[in-house]
Amino acid sequence: MTHPMAIIFVLLTFLAICQAQDATTLPAPTVCIIGSGIGGSSVAHFLRKYSPNSSPSIKIQMLERNGLVGGRMATVNVAGDTFEAGASILHPKNFHALNYSKLLNLEFKEKDSSSGCSSLGIWDGKIFVFKTVKIGCDVPLFDKLVSLVNSLLLFIRYGFSLLKMDSFVEGTVNRFLKYYEEPASRPIFETPDEMLKWAGLYNLTTRTLHDELVDFRLSPLLIKELVTVITRINYGQSVYISGLAGTVSLAGSGGGLWSIKGGNWKMAAGLINQSDVALHLHEEIESIADLGDFYELNSTKGNSYACEVAVVATPLDESNIQFIPQISVSKRKIQHTHTTFVRGLLNPAYFGLSAVMEIPELVGTVEDPDLPFSSISVLKKYDEKDATYKIFSRQPVSDTLLDSIFSVRKETIRIDWPAYPHYHAPEVFTPFLLDDRHLYYVNAFENAASTMETSAVAAENVARLILSRYFGTKSMHSSKFSSGSHREESHVDL
Ligand SMILES: Cc1cc2nc3c(=O)[nH]c(=O)nc-3n(C[C@H](O)[C@H](O)[C@H](O)COP(=O)(O)OP(=O)(O)OC[C@H]3O[C@@H](n4cnc5c(N)ncnc54)[C@H](O)[C@@H]3O)c2cc1C
Ligand SMILES: *[C@@H]1O[C@H](CO)[C@@H](O)[C@H](O)[C@H]1NC(C)=O
Ligand SMILES: *[C@@H]1O[C@H](CO)[C@@H](O)[C@H](O)[C@H]1NC(C)=O
Ligand SMILES: *[C@@H]1O[C@H](CO)[C@@H](O)[C@H](O)[C@H]1NC(C)=O
Ligand SMILES: *[C@@H]1O[C@H](CO)[C@@H](O)[C@H](O)[C@H]1NC(C)=O
Repeated sequence: MTHPMAIIFVLLTFLAICQAQDATTLPAPTVCIIGSGIGGSSVAHFLRKYSPNSSPSIKIQMLERNGLVGGRMATVNVAGDTFEAGASILHPKNFHALNYSKLLNLEFKEKDSSSGCSSLGIWDGKIFVFKTVKIGCDVPLFDKLVSLVNSLLLFIRYGFSLLKMDSFVEGTVNRFLKYYEEPASRPIFETPDEMLKWAGLYNLTTRTLHDELVDFRLSPLLIKELVTVITRINYGQSVYISGLAGTVSLAGSGGGLWSIKGGNWKMAAGLINQSDVALHLHEEIESIADLGDFYELNSTKGNSYACEVAVVATPLDESNIQFIPQISVSKRKIQHTHTTFVRGLLNPAYFGLSAVMEIPELVGTVEDPDLPFSSISVLKKYDEKDATYKIFSRQPVSDTLLDSIFSVRKETIRIDWPAYPHYHAPEVFTPFLLDDRHLYYVNAFENAASTMETSAVAAENVARLILSRYFGTKSMHSSKFSSGSHREESHVDL
């Protein structure tokens, strides 16, 4: 006869063994990361940084369809000089990017003196409705004077609204700083919605920038001109983009902006190099199949990768990745930005001016469907008759148009970027977790705003989510995706 206590004892021991196994002998997962941009490389970095020492080492495979890492951080070579072709500027409070440059020993790009001092003009298609001055740019002593005069000119046109705009932007930037708080006191988020609500930023995604700024009592002229110029340059869109993306773009027009010498892509290259990643270039993933215990990723070259965890670190909107079983993501359009580099000389006659010197170094534009470009800026001046320019436009710029804008054109390089989401308030977000297992999506956060830093912040959260769901308690599993997930008009199946 068995004593009941013995049974209970055996049972307890059995349970204890099971639990111990659950905690310590979980196999080290292979994590496949699709995309080697700042998002994918940051996931790899934070997986290494936060992996518990006790658990077996994760294997990281990174699949990148291009022959280079960095994604939308890329450089272009124009007549021997290297320029940023995609993401170019970082904000002084982009703390992940700052830490990366320290960790990786990357140098900051020094301010290019050869481009002279920067002057701004706002072009409406017929005249410059506003122009700052650019006298005496090469003389350091005059620099301060010129910026004073320009502050005055801006003040005369836009008044106290400028200060209101600054305080509006600063308030938002300060909320964003919550994402740098100690991980121990910071929750892990399964959706961008929760993540944004926690920092008090969600409301900004539900309304347009225009409505936010009107409520903040900015003058209509400031919104129509300067704010419009900035959203057109940074996101190729109007002031009717959602408020958070709009505010982020305004923050990207302030002082203290910086970039990495040699190209911002070096952040991704360095993070990948330091994170013990098996990098596969020229490897485009075309399908992700959930086979129960693992995901099978097939590439266009016919290779298969098996991994317990799969991370999509690229926008799914214009990708051809097939998911088995299907997944549902929120509908989103991508804004294409055509970036055209020209080495040559602008034609003053196009702007109704008599000398090249009179054309501002940065020509911004107001919202007008007839305007064929969003901005033209001088990247580098070689001499009075020779410079490299960058043009942003929503449509490709034709040779005919370029021939009327430029009097001399020695070299032209065109890039068509699937650049960032076409922002639309209220934004509808896809969760970071695409199924009820281990399939993650970093770029779900891009509806909030698309920048190198926001990608890094989203990636840090995704890395923590992976670790907590894989090694942590299973209680985090939610059932909301499991059965015949309810779909609305705002979602598409992939
Ligand atoms: C013109 C332009 C200007 C910008 N300016 C700024 C700026 O000044 N400051 C700023 O902070 N941000 C700027 N941005 C935004 C910034 O570039 C992005 O937010 C950021 O780089 C996104 O990084 P990511 O890693 O999420 O995506 P990406 O950089 O797009 O990386 C995704 C990677 O995945 C790869 N990939 C895609 N599909 C597959 C597949 N099926 N299989 C394998 N690999 C695949 C791609 O080749 C790519 O390398 C700009 C963007 C553009 C286009
Ligand atoms: C940057 O690095 C420092 C030193 O390693 C660290 O204390 C800080 O938390 C890091 N910042 C972020 C945003 O991770
Ligand atoms: C966001 O909007 C809701 C509803 O209007 C409001 O209750 C809440 O206080 C707002 N949150 C912030 C941070 O402004
Ligand atoms: C990779 O990292 C090592 C040190 O960890 C360094 O010596 C090497 O230069 C790095 N390579 C690149 C391409 O960054
Ligand atoms: C992926 O490749 C494997 C091996 O070639 C194949 O058996 C499988 O059917 C492929 N899956 C898809 C979805 O094409």
